[in-house]
Amino acid sequence: MTDLKNDRFLRALLKQPVDVTPVWMMRQAGRYLPEYRASRAKAGDFMSLCKNAEFACEVTMQPLDRFPQLDAAILFSDILTIPDAMGQGLYFETGEGPRFKKVVSTLADIEALPIPDPQKDLGYVMNAVSTIRKELNGRVPLIGFSGSPWTLATYMVEGGSSKDFRKTKAMLYDTPQAMHLLLDKLAQSVTSYLNGQILAGAQAVQIFDTWGGNLSSAAYQEFSLAYMRKIVSGLVREHEGRKVPVILFTKNGGLWLESIADAGADALGLDWTCDLGEARRRVGNKVALQGNMDPTVLYANPEAIRTEVKRILASYGKGSGHVFNLGHGITPEVKPEHAGAFISAVHEFSGQYHQE
Ligand code: CP3
Repeated sequence: MTDLKNDRFLRALLKQPVDVTPVWMMRQAGRYLPEYRASRAKAGDFMSLCKNAEFACEVTMQPLDRFPQLDAAILFSDILTIPDAMGQGLYFETGEGPRFKKVVSTLADIEALPIPDPQKDLGYVMNAVSTIRKELNGRVPLIGFSGSPWTLATYMVEGGSSKDFRKTKAMLYDTPQAMHLLLDKLAQSVTSYLNGQILAGAQAVQIFDTWGGNLSSAAYQEFSLAYMRKIVSGLVREHEGRKVPVILFTKNGGLWLESIADAGADALGLDWTCDLGEARRRVGNKVALQGNMDPTVLYANPEAIRTEVKRILASYGKGSGHVFNLGHGITPEVKPEHAGAFISAVHEFSGQYHQE
């Protein structure tokens, strides 16, 4: 394997000195890019992009080719590959988001769920990782990812996206033991899936807990954070002679930063509802921080975007330990030039925070 030409993303996650603040965007390969829409049309649909390593590699590289200042690549795939591999039958209805043919409703459904083998059942993801690593050739590090057990459980129990998580919350409060069994199976599945990605070449991993922030404080600890902690303790943390940093992203988790910082990960992802400087004071030296510009700022003009980037950099202040990102994924309506203005502003304005 080649040495990394640009490792500032990995260095910042480990709070090692950097020249400028590294930057990447959640959902950086996606529908806001015309070249992505062209690849998806060529592949036929979204899952065909994910299941074919050449297509997955092509779309992973698109944002890096358009915005050479990006400091990391993220595997092109989806969090719902695990429930699909458990036999739920994932499909995407145009304009409606993800759906499952089979829904998880009872203890018997949960008992029957298999724990997928990453090589046998999710081999297409492992292939995508190694294909992308080869193509990157050391240009920037590759991020692998998974959903958190709680976030995956919401899709499995609801049968797709949901506004109120009615069925999932009912299961949690009616039959907590059944919910714990589901989350435990998911935690085992996520651990071996992420370890598979790391051994295939992922150089950092992120756990997306998109819906953890929808739980009560007590339920968050018991039904989301506890399982992420378990995953983190089972991950391969060093590979190819380098540390493999782990990032936990609980959207709307700002109230619980101290306990998330105690879960054993190297970094926390923040959404835009927290002040970055205050978050830094709260987590102290324990973890690095990633985030946290409101993605809708990208609808404003490039000058307003640059001003917001400067404000967030100043809020974090001097020193390493910050990876710039959006506070959630970039949306399909954003103009690519606005994403470009965001990415270049991070390097342009951050040098002053990294001088002695
Ligand atoms: O960040 C990246 O560029 C990597 C790729 C990535 C995708 N999904 C591609 C994708 C990642 C990291 C994800 C994670 C994901 N998937 C999450 C967690 C992150 C988050 O955004 O909170 C969730 C909840 C999902 C589930 C999912 N997949 C939904 C709800 C949808 C529909 C979204 C929509 O806006 O329609 C998807 C589909 C999906 N995953 C798309 C992409 C680029 C759009 C599919 C398309 O091209 O039509």
